[in-house]
Amino acid sequence: MADNQGRKLRSQLWWDNPGNPGMTALYLERYLNFGLTREELQSGKPVIGIAQTGSDLSPCNRHHIDLAERVKAGIRDAGGLPIEFPVHPIQETGKRPTAALDRNLAYLGLVEVLYGYPLDGVVLTTGCDKTTPAMLMGAATVDIPAIVLSGGPMLDGHFEGELAGSGTVVWEARRRHAAGLLDYAKFIDMVAASAPSVGHCNTMGTASSMNAMAEALGMSLPGCAAIPGPYRERAQMAYATGKRAVELVRENLKPSDIMTRAAFENAIVAASAIGASTNCPPHVNAIARHMGVELTNDDWDRIGYEIPLLVNMQPAGKYLGETYYRAGGLPAVLGELKRHGKLREGAVTVTGRTMGEITGDARSTDPDVIRAWDNPLKEKAGFVQLKGNLFSSAIMKTSVISDEFRTRYLETPGDEEAFEGRAIVFDGPEDYHHRINDPSLNIDAHCILVVRYCGPVGYPGSAEVVNMLPPDALVKQGVNELPCIGDGRQSGTSGSPSILNASPEAGVGGGLALLQTGDRVRIDLKKRAANILISDAELAERKKALKLPEFVNQTPWQEIYRSHVGQLETGGVLENAVKYQRIAETFGVP
Ligand code: FES
Ligand code: MG
Repeated sequence: MADNQGRKLRSQLWWDNPGNPGMTALYLERYLNFGLTREELQSGKPVIGIAQTGSDLSPCNRHHIDLAERVKAGIRDAGGLPIEFPVHPIQETGKRPTAALDRNLAYLGLVEVLYGYPLDGVVLTTGCDKTTPAMLMGAATVDIPAIVLSGGPMLDGHFEGELAGSGTVVWEARRRHAAGLLDYAKFIDMVAASAPSVGHCNTMGTASSMNAMAEALGMSLPGCAAIPGPYRERAQMAYATGKRAVELVRENLKPSDIMTRAAFENAIVAASAIGASTNCPPHVNAIARHMGVELTNDDWDRIGYEIPLLVNMQPAGKYLGETYYRAGGLPAVLGELKRHGKLREGAVTVTGRTMGEITGDARSTDPDVIRAWDNPLKEKAGFVQLKGNLFSSAIMKTSVISDEFRTRYLETPGDEEAFEGRAIVFDGPEDYHHRINDPSLNIDAHCILVVRYCGPVGYPGSAEVVNMLPPDALVKQGVNELPCIGDGRQSGTSGSPSILNASPEAGVGGGLALLQTGDRVRIDLKKRAANILISDAELAERKKALKLPEFVNQTPWQEIYRSHVGQLETGGVLENAVKYQRIAETFGVP
């Protein structure tokens, strides 16, 4: 059997190739040994892989183990054959040194599986931060029909009568701990209250953001991203996704038909409107690079900055995932963007219909949770890209600039949107923790905290450490945040307006490596500039004298990763992987 255009399915090159009975028998026999029949394998039914990212090691995605049963039922009912396989586990908060290190490893693993086994299409199970980009990057490279099934967020957490949101609650608990208001046991209770059920982070952190990106790209069924993990609609979505995967193969609708430039522009505007994680630009840029679509941080600023913040969800706002889902989730956000001409409506989605068609006239059912365009939480809420002698690109999430930060740093009369400060430089998070309370640093409210050697090469993978708390003494005086700059990342659940993802990173000799404690740094948001205020001659001197630290690898993958990874600005991908595109096309008879 074949797809709708009469093409023989890829899986039949393995399982039904009369020209080569020897190999066919060999390919077949082992898949019979757990009960599949020769009739099933040779029937020409689309074989749909289920890329399983859930496991005991990946609690954020673990319920995909159960959801896969509903995916399989959908695949069967649509006339397909499901084959579930494991993906290298990634768990954001549990993996040392960073989960980001493993995104490209899971990507590589997925590429090999999709390319080298008899699969006609794939359901990509996603959830925890890096699992979503890893799956989409792999599907982009191989380019067989693929569809995303998000796991959905946990239920809303509560602590002592207040909402407790994933990650975001940690920053608040740390502040209270630093101020002496929480003991150890209470601290843990407060943080654990944010995780009341299966699912991924319930804030608009990287998980909720990246699953929204998958939906905005057109790679999941409409409404998929926001459904909470334990809801019945989640399992129903799993069933519908399985069914649709089979049709995708029959229609030969591939990631390259869906993840076009228009789709990426939809992702960017959606990111601003939801108050997405600062991890979205590197992840989405990485997917684009593997898809062969031109996309840069200039695009994020140019297309995304002017979009208002519509979703009132932590860390930029107040609510959590369950409430957001009930208010309409991403479809309601896309509806608002569409009505204001911000959606590239012609972008094709996995449904086979366009983004404009599937969005229809979707609207918010709760105007406080998902705001109207004319009543946003914040106008112009996208990412700003800064450049200068410190780096060629760093981003700042403007939707989380607090009133305290705005008043103290951005509203200086005559110098609005700009500020200067004395740099306090830390070489990595350990150095920061060691010295932040050192009185000899004289840190006051006019200082800028800088952390470096935390980029993809420096840490490795790039650490989520740029949002740094001020010294305890300042916190006690009510200074809750200082401007922070770094070549690492920060958790998407953090509400800090840090300047981060600086590229090139200090670890490869970027400008941050030349900075010294005591230097004055000037940030000008309007001009999109960030500079050390020293002469070019002095800068050149320092460059000449620069000795980079020697990075020690603890695992073989760290060594391989460090020698091939690029910068966050361009997605932090394995640079030598990018040339492999649409590789399923190159596949011959095995
Ligand atoms: Fe896995 Fe947030 S830690 S989703
Ligand atoms: Mg100012």
